[in-house]
Amino acid sequence: MPAPWFEDEIAEALAPLLPGLAVEVVAEIDSTSSELMRRARDGRRAPVLLVAERQTAGRGRLGRLWESAQDAGQPASLTFSLGLPLAPRDWSGLSLAVGVSVADSLDPARTAGLALKWPNDLWVRECKLGGILIETALLQPEEAERYLVVGIGLNIGPREGDGLRTPPAWLQQWQPEASAPAVLRELIVPLVRDIRLFDERGFVPFAPRFAARDLLRGREVVLTDGTEGRCEGVGWGGELLVRTPAGLKTITSAEVSVRPAAPAP
Ligand code: BTN
Repeated sequence: MPAPWFEDEIAEALAPLLPGLAVEVVAEIDSTSSELMRRARDGRRAPVLLVAERQTAGRGRLGRLWESAQDAGQPASLTFSLGLPLAPRDWSGLSLAVGVSVADSLDPARTAGLALKWPNDLWVRECKLGGILIETALLQPEEAERYLVVGIGLNIGPREGDGLRTPPAWLQQWQPEASAPAVLRELIVPLVRDIRLFDERGFVPFAPRFAARDLLRGREVVLTDGTEGRCEGVGWGGELLVRTPAGLKTITSAEVSVRPAAPAP
């Protein structure tokens, strides 16, 4: 039996925040984010929430694949993209703000130890629970407004770690009854509210919320360009601050990926 996705309830709850929003659930697609980016390039730029029970070509950051788990016909992952026009004064820190929003919905009292690994990963006890992919399409050259596509993938049920760079975590490890539709229903309204807040005020109101879950702060890190240093948290624009022998380095999300350094032997 197909999962109930509460489409009408979600559409009704989001209508005041995103007038004209369409909520679509599909059994299978290559990638919800690819689909919304294709539509944006074709001139279809109304707000859409597109949920897929299965993606055949899910995409992660830096051109990586995002593979979903499937469990006995039920989606063991939540994979969706939200597309909407947006014109914040400054886009920096948006993927961090989205991570904060999702983490606060999944672990409101911070009892599960859900942490944010800069810039866009959700981790629990050194394992990856989910990731966020932020993409934008220009609407008109020279115009501030862009079509934003926020893609989110979360592991809900158990999954194998074979072939993954980081061992997986899944939500049912601490919420045994969790299901993909129920998680979507829980996080989507706060997520849209937080995107609106970001639109008005940028990353600043999210900075303390991020700091409370910052996985890398105080840890030795290695950047993909080989630089090593100690992470000093994130700045007011969401940039990663790394103390290196050459001084404080400011890293923006487009430049590098960061992993915790292996502990000294
Ligand atoms: C990452 O970990 O680098 C980001 C993963 C983002 C995955 C989600 S799943 C829904 C949406 N569609 C995609 O193809 N990717 C995002």
